[in-house]
Amino acid sequence: MSGSAETGVGGRADGTATGTAGGAGDVSRGAAPDREALIDVSRGAAPDREAVIDLDAFRHNVRTLAAIARPAETMLAVKADAYGHGMVPLARAALEAGATSLAVLDIPAALVLREAGITAPIFAWMHDPDALFAEAAQADIDLGISAAWQLDAIAAAGASNAPRVHLKVDTGLSRNGATEADWPALVSRAVELDRAGAVRLHAAWSHLADASPGDDATALGRLQRAIEVGEGLGAHFPVRHLAASSAGIRMPEARLDLVRFGIAAYGISPFDDQSARDLGLRPVMTLRARVASTKRVPAGHGISYGLTYRTEAESTLALVPLGYADGIPRIASGRAEVWIGGRRHPIAGRIAMDQFVVDVGEHPVAAGDEVVVFGEGDRGEPTAEEWAGWAETIGDEIVARVGPRVPRVYLGEPGR
Ligand SMILES: Cc1ncc(COP(=O)(O)O)c(C=O)c1O
Repeated sequence: MSGSAETGVGGRADGTATGTAGGAGDVSRGAAPDREALIDVSRGAAPDREAVIDLDAFRHNVRTLAAIARPAETMLAVKADAYGHGMVPLARAALEAGATSLAVLDIPAALVLREAGITAPIFAWMHDPDALFAEAAQADIDLGISAAWQLDAIAAAGASNAPRVHLKVDTGLSRNGATEADWPALVSRAVELDRAGAVRLHAAWSHLADASPGDDATALGRLQRAIEVGEGLGAHFPVRHLAASSAGIRMPEARLDLVRFGIAAYGISPFDDQSARDLGLRPVMTLRARVASTKRVPAGHGISYGLTYRTEAESTLALVPLGYADGIPRIASGRAEVWIGGRRHPIAGRIAMDQFVVDVGEHPVAAGDEVVVFGEGDRGEPTAEEWAGWAETIGDEIVARVGPRVPRVYLGEPGR
């Protein structure tokens, strides 16, 4: 390990930076090592732990999803630091692969993308009363708008460049978005401010609860009715959008003018009954580490806090320097497996803050050996989807929670 994991910058044996931690403003810098160098830890080329982000897999997924969505356009959600993968490199790769716009949660994240030189449309929809509307207008950020006070705040910011606004109606998810009762007033104010040149009314949109096909159909009907109500009030919505990954793949009538794909592009299925592989999508993140140390212990040996696991026979234990501070869910203790030396082994006992123990039995494992926590799955290693099952959560949470002291290392950057 280069000794720089705490600062989030990985290193190679030659000391050059290989990638960055997941900070929103970070961009990949330095030469990305080739895959062989990363995987062959015996050459000492890899740090103790890292998340390897395969941009070729990501581009493949974006191309696949964009083809499904067409003629609807593809907006790629790179919010939450691109679901833990690193916002700027993933944003660039998404645009290279056919996405025509990007989605982030809020204006500060959108400004980071602009500062990185990204000129494509960027959509941000979570704003509090102190939101940076003037800066957003200046940077040509598309704004999702849920309440009339947001429109008033944009007008009050008085930017010379009127921002495009996407009016959101709550179609059942009950997060942001105007209620049916508040929608007419929101639209009327938007129409007024559009005519006054303070905003440019661009879209009507909503977000689905993904509860059932029936609920999603009801939501689509609500959006369509809201659009009709809006048009009756003099609004024109050039763009309508509703679907994210799930409906974008399975609900053609919800694709409308654009689909806001997220999790599927990261190679994780939005469905319980179909894996990413079934959908022709490739997992993008491989979380890997190196065995820190090993020891032989006798039968009946207790392991980790609470001594919840005891060895059945004399065995080798491998210590892995990743814990719940790095995003490894503690609830997966006693259930999850990792890949070492060409086979799966169980995590033994409780996952701790910085480490967990693997019972490798009689298999020859040594300090420095590669541990794949999750990856593409093609070698037999667990996937993030499997971890989601072990942790009683969704794959989104498994990748998004990988912490900042795990360096992100990028494969497949253009020109490399
Ligand atoms: C408004 C909005 N659009 C799109 C997405 C992408 O959703 P998914 O990751 O399910 O594709 C999200 C994610 O939660 C979202 O909040």
